[in-house]
Amino acid sequence: MIASKLPHVGTTIFTIMSKMASDYNAINLSQGYPGFDCYPYLRDLVSEYMRRGFNQYAPMSGVPILKARIAEKTKQVYGVQFEAESEVTVVSGATEALFSAVTAVVRKGDEVILLEPAYDSYAPAVELNGGIPVYVPLKLPDFSVDWEKVKVAITEKTRLIMINSPHNPCGYVWTQNDLEILAELIKDKEIFIISDEVYEHITFDGRKHLPLFSHELLKSRTFACGSFGKTFHITGWKIGYCLAPKELTTEFRKIHQFVTFSTSTPMQYALADFLEDPSRYMYLNEFYERKRDLFCEGLKETAFSFTPAQGSFFQLVSYSHLTNESDFDLAIRITKENGVASIPVSVFYHNKLDHKLLRFCFAKDDEVLEKGLELLAKVKF
Ligand SMILES: Cc1ncc(COP(=O)(O)O)c(C=O)c1O
Repeated sequence: MIASKLPHVGTTIFTIMSKMASDYNAINLSQGYPGFDCYPYLRDLVSEYMRRGFNQYAPMSGVPILKARIAEKTKQVYGVQFEAESEVTVVSGATEALFSAVTAVVRKGDEVILLEPAYDSYAPAVELNGGIPVYVPLKLPDFSVDWEKVKVAITEKTRLIMINSPHNPCGYVWTQNDLEILAELIKDKEIFIISDEVYEHITFDGRKHLPLFSHELLKSRTFACGSFGKTFHITGWKIGYCLAPKELTTEFRKIHQFVTFSTSTPMQYALADFLEDPSRYMYLNEFYERKRDLFCEGLKETAFSFTPAQGSFFQLVSYSHLTNESDFDLAIRITKENGVASIPVSVFYHNKLDHKLLRFCFAKDDEVLEKGLELLAKVKF
């Protein structure tokens, strides 16, 4: 028998719920992927580069033109300069960036602060590297950071803090105040940051995404992980990037080159061309805000209570006023009885803490959302 390195990890809830959605012919608002296609032009660019023979290994850290475009975009959108050749790395999805960054930093016995609920790849990456996850819960009802608890969690052994803004599943968007407090907390310590910013272009109600690297001190400690999957509706392509100061990037690339070595060549060239026009991603806030509003408007006709998400393409709903049923049981029941699949939020907690919340993905066509809402209005408690 092989001794499992991750004995607690089984089939993820995303696989379970998507399979159940298909088995019961339910509307799948569980897994976080867009229900619509990418721009045809982007698809055509990939085909074009394949036809032209761009089909062999890309350079380990990414094709130069794409790294340059990512650096230009970062400068344009956030006013922050990264050196394309030494500080930008193209990776096979943000998941790879997160894993490679954790591996670059975490040594056996190091403590890593994870703010819960947390994306499911963080803790396994830490554990596989011999690190010890230290869980700090976010503060209800808005899931902002409980800075007093973070302060208490920091010890001599803390090596890394993992951040996610805009947040999956809760939609919280970090403020300037959050950045300042974090900087103050780590300034005299040797603590690094991994900042998962895959929903950077999806913020609502006039909020602006504040990358951690927009703060000078935080920039010097941060690996920022981005994903083209979320920005261009191409989650299946698994392509993203990591921005970090030169010294950190050097260590990051030592890991990246032995995890995947490099990322799909024709897709990199296609994305480099596609990035030329900022309107191809700057419209996203508005695009998803309209979908969030449509979804929230419909939720008013259901028994659930909710606060509109600040960012990301997820909406949480609460039902603690309706039943004591576990969120897991309720998600399954609604899929089977009502035909709408969601994700129980307890799966994002290491101890399966159940606040009686479900997560719905609203990155779907309007008709799908409308149908889903109609069915959700019929849920019986
Ligand atoms: C918070 C968060 N981080 C990372 C990822 C993974 O991104 P990618 O598909 O680029 O690996 C996701 C995808 O759902 C996510 O929600």
